[in-house]
Amino acid sequence: MIEIQDLRKSFGPLEVLKGIDLTVAKGEVLTIVGGSGSGKSTLLTCINGLEPINAGRILVDGTEVHAKSTNLDKLRRKIGIVFQQWNAFPHLTVLENVMLAPRKVLGQPKAQAEEMAVRQLTHVGLADKLAVYPSRLSGGQQQRMAIARALAMSPDYMLFDEVTSALDPMLVGEVLDTLRMLASEGMTMICVTHEMKFAREVSDRVAFFHQGVMAEIAAPEAFFEAPTRPETRAFLAATH
Ligand SMILES: Nc1ncnc2c1ncn2[C@@H]1O[C@H](COP(=O)(O)OP(=O)(O)OP(=O)(O)O)[C@@H](O)[C@H]1O
Ligand SMILES: [Mg+2]
Repeated sequence: MIEIQDLRKSFGPLEVLKGIDLTVAKGEVLTIVGGSGSGKSTLLTCINGLEPINAGRILVDGTEVHAKSTNLDKLRRKIGIVFQQWNAFPHLTVLENVMLAPRKVLGQPKAQAEEMAVRQLTHVGLADKLAVYPSRLSGGQQQRMAIARALAMSPDYMLFDEVTSALDPMLVGEVLDTLRMLASEGMTMICVTHEMKFAREVSDRVAFFHQGVMAEIAAPEAFFEAPTRPETRAFLAATH
């Protein structure tokens, strides 16, 4: 479970998260939508301990992410994160890229890392690309490789930050299908996305961020059919 309590985060004088309270249960798929600069990416980087916070706390399975005593490396192994773009190592094959972290970070023997990498790459539909170099992959295939790479660490949570935003519209669907598959398998996921149809279909809840505040959070039906806040209505009107 991820518990966020009165989280505040500033960059210099700019407060970008103004007291966020949010709990994500095991197996839940939470989608976060909202305008540019509303703090969505910042929230994900705080959950993962990539950014320090100014107040409040974040607990992942009861461990406080920003406590001095927390072993962040260990905690991060539980949390896979996939961004808009991931620069794979160009001189390593797809298989080698996915094997790298389990080898280096978890110290897995080669055979074990390879077995896991093959399994995850097969899972995301890249079984025929193992020996290929990343530059030979399409954008959608590269994103699926990035997802396989995160899954190879056997995370309990997956954070996705606009993983389809940099893609040609033709390639968006295949990546969203991969996220749908993970959701149906029970992975706990927080997905920042601009894809409203996806948010509606896949989420257990949808949260709307506006100027550093979580202005609304609801089940998809209620969120899209009967938003309570004027900011949410304006956002939905603009994205439809
Ligand atoms: N490292 C940083 N240093 C200073 N300001 C930052 C930093 N990262 C983000 N910000 C600022 O914090 C605010 C929130 O940014 P964030 O990236 O979280 O927004 P977002 O909701 O993800 O937007 P988008 O939809 O455009 O990705 C923005 O005003 C941004 O300029
Ligand atoms: Mg962002």
